[in-house]
Amino acid sequence: MKKLLLSLAALTLSFTAFSQGNNYVQNYKKFEGLAMTPPMGWNSWNKFACNVDEKLIRETADAMVSSGMKAAGYEYINIDDCWHGDRDSLGFIQPDPKRFPSGMKALTDYVHSKGLKLGIYSDAGSQTCGGRPGSRGYEFQDAQQYAKWGIDYLKYDWCNTEGLKAEGAYKTIAAALQRAGRPMVLSICEWGTDKPWEWGPAVGHLWRTTGDIYNCFDCVKDHGTWKSWGVMQILDKQEGLRQYAGPGHWNDPDMMEVGNGMTVNEDRAHFTMWSMLAAPLIAGNDLRNMSKETIAILTDKEVLAINQDKLGIQGLRLSVKDSLETWVKPLDGGKWAVTFLNRAKNPQKVNFDWKKTPITDDFAKRELNAGKTTYKIRNVWTKKSQGTTKKAFEATVPAHDVVLLVLSE
Ligand code: GLA
Repeated sequence: MKKLLLSLAALTLSFTAFSQGNNYVQNYKKFEGLAMTPPMGWNSWNKFACNVDEKLIRETADAMVSSGMKAAGYEYINIDDCWHGDRDSLGFIQPDPKRFPSGMKALTDYVHSKGLKLGIYSDAGSQTCGGRPGSRGYEFQDAQQYAKWGIDYLKYDWCNTEGLKAEGAYKTIAAALQRAGRPMVLSICEWGTDKPWEWGPAVGHLWRTTGDIYNCFDCVKDHGTWKSWGVMQILDKQEGLRQYAGPGHWNDPDMMEVGNGMTVNEDRAHFTMWSMLAAPLIAGNDLRNMSKETIAILTDKEVLAINQDKLGIQGLRLSVKDSLETWVKPLDGGKWAVTFLNRAKNPQKVNFDWKKTPITDDFAKRELNAGKTTYKIRNVWTKKSQGTTKKAFEATVPAHDVVLLVLSE
């Protein structure tokens, strides 16, 4: 009898321990108070793919400061895939000793000394997309290691995840980060497959809504087993998602291709639309080697203010006519950003009669009614005042470009 009672007690104990462990993952809280406006930074992947090392990261941190990007609000330097070496005898991940001979702690110290933050990359599966060690089965060890190194941001990818459920896998790494105790932004990179906008807000701070961006304005790149998407294709895939975004939880239409070879008009349109979407602004070009046009686009204070507006309302596509789109984004202080996007290969004329076109945004509970209120018009890229909403607005939008206005009372 005594024996039976003892084994019953042991069984209850192990059961409690088991369910506590389980509950820990189920009941964790994500790090609140981070990414209250869309995160701004840089990531190595779009330009450098697997060619990352500590020299590139240090030089990029230097360039973020010297180019004026840091002063404009860019903060995160994010190392994407392929930084990894092997796990040590206890399973703790180590950086590639050839690429990162000084180790990760020295690198975070350097980046922090510049007033910037360092991000790193892993994957929920057995291997990353680039074939490096993934975090599956090592989530809590990896989180501890990142915390020890002083990492501030984790992008967590979704390759090689056979048999895993996305929400559960991302909850597990989020719980591991919480347990490790160092606040980190969690960037969910699951490509929108399992509707991360529905469960992502409770788990991380941003979630990719699509597959990878491709460096073109309007094209689809077919890689055989998968496709990557031009700027316009990604833009179209944001339809219906704006209600999921807000302070601390953002739709992520992927890192930018500004400065990677599109025309200046296209780069301006790309940057404007990412700002209208309240998208994370993660530059993907070589910051050490930028044209003055690229710097001017990436650091435009008025456009950044639209992206970083504290209300965090994602913009709305109001109309599409002959490849000319009208987008609006309600801003703090009763202001509105209005963008005319020309997707055509030839210039197009805009004639927008504010009084005849009252705008109601049910989601944001805002109204732009020029019949009731007269707004002053600021042309953001030309830095000129353009009258008021008493008169219809007329302009020509160059091919693959935008006219961006801010309306204020
Ligand atoms: C996936 C991601 C990309 C990048 C690569 C790295 O494709 O979506 O953003 O991180 O993996 O291998």
